[in-house]
Amino acid sequence: MKILVTGGAGFIGSEFVRQAVGKGHRVCVVDKLTYAGDLKRLEGIKDKISFYKADIVNREFMEYIFQVEKPEAVVHFAAESHVDRSLLDPFPFLDTNVKGTQVLLELARLFAVARFVNISTDEVYGELGPSGRFNEDSPLKPNSPYSVSKAAADMLGRAYTRSYGLPVITVRPSNNYGPWQYPEKLIPLVIFKALRGEKIPVYGTGENVREWLYVEDCARGVLTVLEKGRPGEIYNIASGEERKNLEVVKAILDLLGKPHHLIEFVRDRPGHDFRYAMDFSKIREQLGWQPEFDFASGLEKTVNWYLENRDWLEEKLIFLNSYWKKVYGRGE
Ligand SMILES: NC(=O)c1ccc[n+]([C@@H]2O[C@H](COP(=O)([O-])OP(=O)(O)OC[C@H]3O[C@@H](n4cnc5c(N)ncnc54)[C@H](O)[C@@H]3O)[C@@H](O)[C@H]2O)c1
Repeated sequence: MKILVTGGAGFIGSEFVRQAVGKGHRVCVVDKLTYAGDLKRLEGIKDKISFYKADIVNREFMEYIFQVEKPEAVVHFAAESHVDRSLLDPFPFLDTNVKGTQVLLELARLFAVARFVNISTDEVYGELGPSGRFNEDSPLKPNSPYSVSKAAADMLGRAYTRSYGLPVITVRPSNNYGPWQYPEKLIPLVIFKALRGEKIPVYGTGENVREWLYVEDCARGVLTVLEKGRPGEIYNIASGEERKNLEVVKAILDLLGKPHHLIEFVRDRPGHDFRYAMDFSKIREQLGWQPEFDFASGLEKTVNWYLENRDWLEEKLIFLNSYWKKVYGRGE
């Protein structure tokens, strides 16, 4: 299948591209290469794909790409994806995540694309208390500008299916972790700080719970949905591996042999959702997907990858620190 992958130079998108190429699909990657995009993630397969540095909001250029590439499927990962940034400036989130999705849906309609997989997030459901899980029919109650922009994109996808018959499939993964993740996210940031023996900032009391999904499992889930999912449907992709943030930080310190007193509790993120957890029985029972990595083995693989790729981590942290200095007046 010829697949146009947006955001394919990002953390999850690049893993998806690797797996899709490995399964014999022809892949064309479109990525704006924002601070979060990096072609190094695709180095091993760069001769096997076509690549366009493009902004999905740019309709003319995107139309040109659709004309040249004639994709049979679109898998749409491109997004402004970092929640903290959406709290500082929501506008780029609305541009890329809403307008950009609209451009892609419209082009997919005009070019009669056979499948459009829209990558959403568990965050569109909002927060849970200590018990319960979201399923695909749970109401959308997003709480951050990021999750609102993703929910809006989901609704656009729904409208294109209902109004135009475009075969859109929505995928809602839980919190991903693994190699190549940008270190603004908890796990790579903690690894970096711990390696340097620096204080590790943990929001609030560290009680917030996330459901951790290893990136290879997530990408395989998206491929499964692309190949076997039913148009118009929504599929949650999760792991059942719920952990409090504090537990995650301690597990990383233990793997690295570092002391727990490096942990420093900092002021909580505004509007911080307490817990996310999803029922993923639909994808398991209907499409036969299930996660292969438990949290302990996925985390160990992740920590080892960062130990072997410390240069990449350091390079990203230099950029991240200058961003933090600009917005907070200090590095982290
Ligand atoms: N990381 C997670 O835990 C997680 C969980 C659930 C859902 N998601 C969703 O999965 C998708 C991928 O997440 P990720 O963690 O890989 O994000 P990421 O930030 O690592 O990658 C996003 C990619 O999109 C590109 N991009 C951003 N704006 C663009 C634009 N206007 N035009 C073209 N390209 C653009 C970036 O350059 C980057 O390569 C996103 O849609 C995100 O909302 C992520």
